[in-house]
Amino acid sequence: MDDSAWWQRGAIYQIYPRSFFDSNGDGIGDLDGIRRKLGHLVELGVDAAWISPFFPSPMADFGYDVADYCGVDPLFGTLADFDALIAEAHRLGLRIILDFVPNHTSDQHPWFLESRQGRESAKRDWYIWRDPAPDGGPPNNWMSNFGGSAWAFDAASGQYYYHAFLREQPDLNWRNPAVQDAMMEALRFWLERGVDGFRVDVIWHLVKDALFRDNPPNPGYGPGQPDINRFQQIRSTDQPEVFDIIARMRATLAAYGDRVLIGEIYLPVERLVAYYGERLEGVHLPFNFQLIAASWHARGLDEMIDEYERAIPEGGWPNWVLGNHDQKRIAGRLGAAQARVAAMLLLTLRGTPTIYYGDELGLPNVPVPPELAQDPWEKNEPGLGVGRDPARAPMRWNDSPRAGFTTGTPWLPIGPQPELNVATEAADPRSMLALHRRLLALRRAHPALAVGGYERIEAEGDLLAYRRREGGEVLTVVLNLSAREESLDLPAPAGGWRCLVSTGLDREGPEPAGPLRLRPDEGVVLAEG
Ligand code: GLC
Repeated sequence: MDDSAWWQRGAIYQIYPRSFFDSNGDGIGDLDGIRRKLGHLVELGVDAAWISPFFPSPMADFGYDVADYCGVDPLFGTLADFDALIAEAHRLGLRIILDFVPNHTSDQHPWFLESRQGRESAKRDWYIWRDPAPDGGPPNNWMSNFGGSAWAFDAASGQYYYHAFLREQPDLNWRNPAVQDAMMEALRFWLERGVDGFRVDVIWHLVKDALFRDNPPNPGYGPGQPDINRFQQIRSTDQPEVFDIIARMRATLAAYGDRVLIGEIYLPVERLVAYYGERLEGVHLPFNFQLIAASWHARGLDEMIDEYERAIPEGGWPNWVLGNHDQKRIAGRLGAAQARVAAMLLLTLRGTPTIYYGDELGLPNVPVPPELAQDPWEKNEPGLGVGRDPARAPMRWNDSPRAGFTTGTPWLPIGPQPELNVATEAADPRSMLALHRRLLALRRAHPALAVGGYERIEAEGDLLAYRRREGGEVLTVVLNLSAREESLDLPAPAGGWRCLVSTGLDREGPEPAGPLRLRPDEGVVLAEG
């Protein structure tokens, strides 16, 4: 066996707990619901679940506004439910990764309530308080990610506090060692309970410019774009001091053995890879969102993959993401047929894949009428298309009207295409679910896919081709990113090609001699001989 870590070999599955399975009929998913559906993850063939926040929260940003880092919100259950969930997951051989939200708390967190009591408060410096600009306005031009200025005025003390997201999400002051100590305690609380790692929310935001200088204007900004695009976030994010904090998080985890630290980072690739750390003391996996932003053409994707592979420091491990709770769903972006090709790409590239719940079924974006909008960003900046509700629709367990998600009223609409659900797709040997199960099984069976090297193959048109190699095994992946037939003149190995799987799940075994033919929207994994 190779000496790779579980989070290198394995695949991660993201669960948005509000939307996974509702065990008590209130229309909102919960921890016991997750526990009861762990079998789905096992049958799918993933290795770990990352669960978005379930901590006590006023839910201004659906749990990304934490009011207590060491508890469970009653909406989602109890600590005992969490303990039962992790025990069952471990019994099934699954790891559990929590969502750690260190950049900001809820404005209802006791730390912030104390901090806002006045300039003399012992916790004043736990958050970022500044005097107004000379004209009485906000201290600088930093914008909130959810629209408007990132500074909220507190009339009682005559100062502003900084919030990179909602005003209900004040940013912590990570330059204060007491904040660091308290947050390391929170990590240890969950490590002691057996969690296998953390996905760290907006980790590149943690430290801000010490002088609070203005951000420069963004030349790419134009009408119709959200406020956050007005300026380049170079002073408000990605400061060098953040790496000391990340190293401290890593050290905290290291005391517990083989735990993983994943960072949520939206930065260009040359900055992204800095988060591995100069001596790999950064996060294990800086989330790589390039497939989300990329335009879907082979010539361009191949460059991007190559560049990323070259940028990763020696000893660093790549990772790939197609979707999450903040982005449009992949089936909506590419259409159902090409989403199958995207799944093959995600699960055959070198690096840890993260699958967003429901993408294994091909779930669409579910439109939400404006009056039913839940997402605070959509409410703050309506009509720009920034809303995140469409990707957060309930998981579909069967084809009944409430999709087997709840017996109550689901918190977001279930959406069209009821045939996209676990029960129906499990019974269909060529479904999107069947494709995911097959590809994940293939990864497990073939070290070349799980841990092998990546070699680009020169191709033309809309074909993307690469080799994965480990020990004596070589697998070749050819993906047709277009809706036309394509062919590739790839010299066949001595014994000819053998197709292991195609995205249609209808092509297996020896390939005819001559150029490889790919049907529209088809991808194949080929073995030699
Ligand atoms: C991250 C989360 C997002 C949240 C934001 C503020 O980007 O993924 O859902 O709104 O941070 O915590």
